[in-house]
Amino acid sequence: MPRVFSGIQPSGVPTLGNYLGAIRNWVPMQAGDDSLFCVVDLHAITAFQDPAELTRQTREMAAALIACGIDPARSILFCQSHVHAHAELGWIFNCIARLGWLNRMTQFKDKAGKDREAASAGLYVYPNLMAADIHAYHATLVPVGDDQRQHLELANDIAEKFNHDYGVPYFPRIEPLIQGVAARVMSLRDGTKKMSKSDPSDQSRINLTDDADTIALKIRRARTDAEPLPEQIGGLEARPEARNLVGILAALTGTTPDAVLRDHAGKGFSELKPVLIDAMVAELAPIAAAMRRLLDDPGAIDTALAEGARRAAAIADPIVTRAKAIMGFLPAR
Ligand code: TYM
Repeated sequence: MPRVFSGIQPSGVPTLGNYLGAIRNWVPMQAGDDSLFCVVDLHAITAFQDPAELTRQTREMAAALIACGIDPARSILFCQSHVHAHAELGWIFNCIARLGWLNRMTQFKDKAGKDREAASAGLYVYPNLMAADIHAYHATLVPVGDDQRQHLELANDIAEKFNHDYGVPYFPRIEPLIQGVAARVMSLRDGTKKMSKSDPSDQSRINLTDDADTIALKIRRARTDAEPLPEQIGGLEARPEARNLVGILAALTGTTPDAVLRDHAGKGFSELKPVLIDAMVAELAPIAAAMRRLLDDPGAIDTALAEGARRAAAIADPIVTRAKAIMGFLPAR
């Protein structure tokens, strides 16, 4: 079994996009020390985080992952800043990656917006730290949503350059695992924009903490069009909002968009939306309830994260120490 690594930023409540595109796919990949799931708080501070909020959201994210089925006894669940190897290898990779590579990253361009000069240097080198997260464990399988594809290509470029420059095949190639119809869940307000936990409009997303009434309201208000549904997904080419809702329903019910359309062809959204609301509430209500229970005992979450960090460091420290030896750093005694 290849070692699995994935991460999520504690920069807000996890969304339906995070769940369908990533977290849900992590659950069957748990294999003890060969599966690592990380709350990437060092990545979160590439944009300012209020200190008290960062603490709260980090715990909340850990609770969300456990509520979704990540079991700290069957995988390693931990917090990035608790394992020093990430920052250390991240710096090394800052010195391996080329500016030209980083300049091509579309996510930096999106997140930095118009005023690029005002973006943090951390936001710019963000993908180098992400490469370090994975390579610090010699992990080779990385389950993510579609928006991370370019970052993972960069992680392979970094590994290849390290191996080439130092003449040792030290860091393995990684393989992105980008799965299924929900690899890119779009905003409920704009079908051309990704659903995101940092979108200023709460109406644009479903949060894993939303109750049944909130979910129903958001889906009822979700942007759609007045056309009836076609028989095949190809017929939704120019209707991004409609395609998104059909894709979400397919993902929630474990089927394909074409199968959803076979059942609903000719109907409008006034008929599809109630079906979607029921499927969403059935899937998410137990997760929200489990999160609330877990957050009643923050000490237990902190203990689980501490144990996860201890196990993670036991794997990463020797891998990073060996990388430093390959590079010729004088060994610390
Ligand atoms: P983050 O926190 O933005 O998102 C966590 C995971 O959720 C996926 N995702 C989505 N999938 C489908 N539709 C959406 N609308 C959607 N929004 C988010 C993301 O693709 C991701 O898999 N850079 C990463 C975190 C990270 C990481 C890593 C991932 C840091 N180090 C190492 C893998 C390996 C991020 O910002 O994810």
